[in-house]
Amino acid sequence: MGILQQQAEAFIHQLYREKGRPEEAVGRMREIEEEIHVSGTYTHTYEELSYGAKLAWRNSNKCIGRLFWENLHVFDARHIYSAEKAAEAARRHLRFAAGEGKIRPAVTVFPQRKPDGTDPLFFHNHQLIRYAGYETGRGDPHSLETTRLAESFGWKGNGGDFDLLPLLIQEGEDIHVFDLDQKQDVQEIDIVHPEEEAFRKLGLKWYTVPAISDMEMNIGGIIYGAAPFNGWYMGTEIAARNFADSFRYDRLKQTAEILGMNTAKISSLWKDRALVELNRAVLYSFQEAGAGIVDHHTAAEQFRLFCGKENQQGRKVTGDWTWLIPPVSPASVHIFHETYDNTIKTPNFFYRNRTSGTGCPFIGNQEKGLFQP
Ligand code: ARG
Repeated sequence: MGILQQQAEAFIHQLYREKGRPEEAVGRMREIEEEIHVSGTYTHTYEELSYGAKLAWRNSNKCIGRLFWENLHVFDARHIYSAEKAAEAARRHLRFAAGEGKIRPAVTVFPQRKPDGTDPLFFHNHQLIRYAGYETGRGDPHSLETTRLAESFGWKGNGGDFDLLPLLIQEGEDIHVFDLDQKQDVQEIDIVHPEEEAFRKLGLKWYTVPAISDMEMNIGGIIYGAAPFNGWYMGTEIAARNFADSFRYDRLKQTAEILGMNTAKISSLWKDRALVELNRAVLYSFQEAGAGIVDHHTAAEQFRLFCGKENQQGRKVTGDWTWLIPPVSPASVHIFHETYDNTIKTPNFFYRNRTSGTGCPFIGNQEKGLFQP
């Protein structure tokens, strides 16, 4: 049996078992084997695609938010072969995800990888919404490469800290560039502090929908090279990482100064105090705006519920401790004091191989650096 058949078999049996219709698996596998024999690949039914995507989330070891895996909304965009239509679908995804404040987790699934290893379409963007980064030091340094790529196609940003990058979509040999509509497609929140008016002067804002677009989804051996997915933010991702990392917006010092802290002595813990205030500000601002966000204490409790539910179903939760612990006050949540088995199960999301444009499903390409970007 080929490796594709094996992966299909494992997935199909799991799906129909979990759905309570195990007797359907054998017949379905016969169909799949025939299709692979004729075409070198096979096609998921919508139910398989939809449940497979949910399993990919459930199996995401780095994700603390998995309690809600069954609520994933799966958009089937497997009929879309043009970059232009893909951009439309991506923008529709963003508008759906932003909902009316309450963020809705969703994935949009574009055509699967062909037997020759190429993807009909894929995104060069790390996330559907991301801020540009410039050599001048302005913007998000994490986006330097993507920004350069956009510029090489004639895109020009404003040179600011929060310029929305365009969508960069590969269709066959070509890259196509599409601007997002800042009003319609993107909800942004100005970051203010619950008590300190001066905090505004930092001029910080962030978008509400984190939609990862540079990973591929593997369901039963079928690779979806373009399958952008979103959840909602945990406050620390923005406050303790995007704003605070020295290689990102690097705003700890400014935050401390604006809040009147003495930054002369590192042992005064001004960095830690600034981190807490940044985190309070992000949570407060999102909540005031009615935008979905979760704090790390609540998220950890939700993760505890997830583990309990999974155990009840007789399933072992796998997890990556280095990612699951929050970057502020890690030891204040139970996760810190547990150990997790980091075995990678499929279905799952994997990093794409950025240079060749295609990922490899058969090598462990999950382990690229610690801690979430
Ligand atoms: N950490 C990434 C960011 O700050 C987002 C990763 C996905 N996060 C999520 N809550 N679904 O943009």
